[in-house]
Amino acid sequence: MDFSTIDISAISFEYFISNQSQITDLQSCNDLLREKCGVKSFFEDEKQLSRFIALIAERNNKAEEPDRREYGDFQTNINLALKSADYIKSISKDENIAFILEPTCGKGHFIIAALATFTDIKRIVGIEIYQPYVWEAKFNILDFFLINKNRSVPLIEIFHANVFDFDFESLSKETRSLSTCIIGNPPWVTNSELSSLASKNLPQKSNFKKHTGFDALTGKGNFDIGESISLLMLKHFSSHQGYFGFLVKNSVVKNLVYDQKKNLYPINKLKKLAIDAKKEFNVSVDACFFVAEFNLQAGLTCSDNDLYSLQEKQIFGWVNNKFVNSVLDYKQAKDIDGKSQFVWRQGLKHDCAKVMEFERNNGHYINGLNHELHIESDLVYGLLKSSDLKHTQTNTYRKLTIVTQKKIGQETNYIKRDYPLTFEYLNNNSEYFDRRKSSIYQGKPRFSIFGIGDYSFMPYKIAISGMYKTTHFTLVTPANGKPIMLDDTCYFIGFEKEKYAKIALYLLNHKHTQQFLKAIIFTDSKRAVTKDILMRIDFLMLYKLFDYTLITNNIAVEIEDWEDFGKLLEQKTDAKQMTLF
Ligand SMILES: C[S@@+](CC[C@H](N)C(=O)[O-])C[C@H]1O[C@@H](n2cnc3c(N)ncnc32)[C@H](O)[C@@H]1O
Repeated sequence: MDFSTIDISAISFEYFISNQSQITDLQSCNDLLREKCGVKSFFEDEKQLSRFIALIAERNNKAEEPDRREYGDFQTNINLALKSADYIKSISKDENIAFILEPTCGKGHFIIAALATFTDIKRIVGIEIYQPYVWEAKFNILDFFLINKNRSVPLIEIFHANVFDFDFESLSKETRSLSTCIIGNPPWVTNSELSSLASKNLPQKSNFKKHTGFDALTGKGNFDIGESISLLMLKHFSSHQGYFGFLVKNSVVKNLVYDQKKNLYPINKLKKLAIDAKKEFNVSVDACFFVAEFNLQAGLTCSDNDLYSLQEKQIFGWVNNKFVNSVLDYKQAKDIDGKSQFVWRQGLKHDCAKVMEFERNNGHYINGLNHELHIESDLVYGLLKSSDLKHTQTNTYRKLTIVTQKKIGQETNYIKRDYPLTFEYLNNNSEYFDRRKSSIYQGKPRFSIFGIGDYSFMPYKIAISGMYKTTHFTLVTPANGKPIMLDDTCYFIGFEKEKYAKIALYLLNHKHTQQFLKAIIFTDSKRAVTKDILMRIDFLMLYKLFDYTLITNNIAVEIEDWEDFGKLLEQKTDAKQMTLF
């Protein structure tokens, strides 16, 4: 009896699986089935039953194949694999690649691409954790040689194994003399995504970058599995003669180049060749083919190109002790890389937009719940968001907010006493405040806000959006005698004097500062502009690059203001230096 030809329905299959413990011998199994469906002697003999049990077990294993997501499973299409292999051939010139290693080979498309591209291969090793892909890879290779009859046949081993358990040390020794190409597409998945899937697909020493528990909490300990596999390859093979080419997320390349400073693997001529991941894999991720040449002096920079056009955009990496997005721009603008004399602040945070933000409509305040507010105007301030910072100067706003505190942690009881209408409004909507999840609000006065201090009430502010990729600064001036607030997507510095704010604005929007920011900002980060970035602008160095006679055509300030601004910077610089001793 061949059960494999019988179509056992899902419901019957489920039934057998859930009653496995009772299907131990012919008698008990047939009794069970008789009771369930009335059929007598469902199985005729022990032999028939044991065949059936084997089939059920096999199907069950298939059903339990892991969710492929946890293996970062994006099989590379053969065209992209061919294009990638071809790129390596183009840089390897006449070198005969003899050894191919694909550490997570999947269905083997990179192995096929390598076979099609390099004609003198002596040995190929592929490793894959998912058994059905191991078979597909083998059959794909068989197909290749059945079609390409005249090709010399190398030794090919496809291991069904976990890359993190594989003995690369021995493989590296065995292949030491062979010109090597490590090529592939390791899983695109991070360890935190894996742990959310409760996966075991992690390197043995998952703390491979020696992250502390604190880093793990802040997210710095989150790493890509593709990164750990890349490092594993570089550790064992980078002193071979040869090449490395992996399809990875851009963030992996950034980390690899960043870590080169301490790892100093003998790789050089690093290239990040952007791919269109949406087109190739139908995923919205910034990804590339990362290429390096082995057995060279350790390179600390990487050129940023495009795999399709091969056009170079810029070079990023280390310039002395600074890790920068554009080496060329940094070299030209690094004179202002220092410590800002003004403290850049993030705007207001309340996590309660529906209640705390409102608009003025025909003289009525309407909040995010579409309710009208009747409150005193004293605590009401105009509020700007990132999207409002398009122009060079502004004092108009769409939104308003209630500024409940003058500094962080200030008691808010005074509102009940001094502003009863405002209190009533806040109190009536207190459930929205109570719902705020962030732990920063716990144990704090009612209606607390963050990102508030004397600096918030400075009349003149120079602000920038942290959400956009542009680095344009806006001068925000008061409206109706009140300073305008920024929300927490923005950063700003504040001034009492308008003239100082104008000078700061001019300096910040100057092309030299813009070039410096372009050099140090990695635009692929979620928040491109950060406080850390802004705090690197040394205003004094910047100021010294200009002369009053040069700036007077651009901003209407008197020479006294210009000079006073310089003195202020000197004082702030001295004060900062004093605190160092
Ligand atoms: C992004 S896919 C790429 C497959 C193949 N390299 C290609 O380019 O078509 C990643 C592959 O890694 C395999 N994989 C995931 N974790 C692995 C591990 N720990 N050891 C070996 N292979 C693994 C997955 O099953 C999957 O086939």
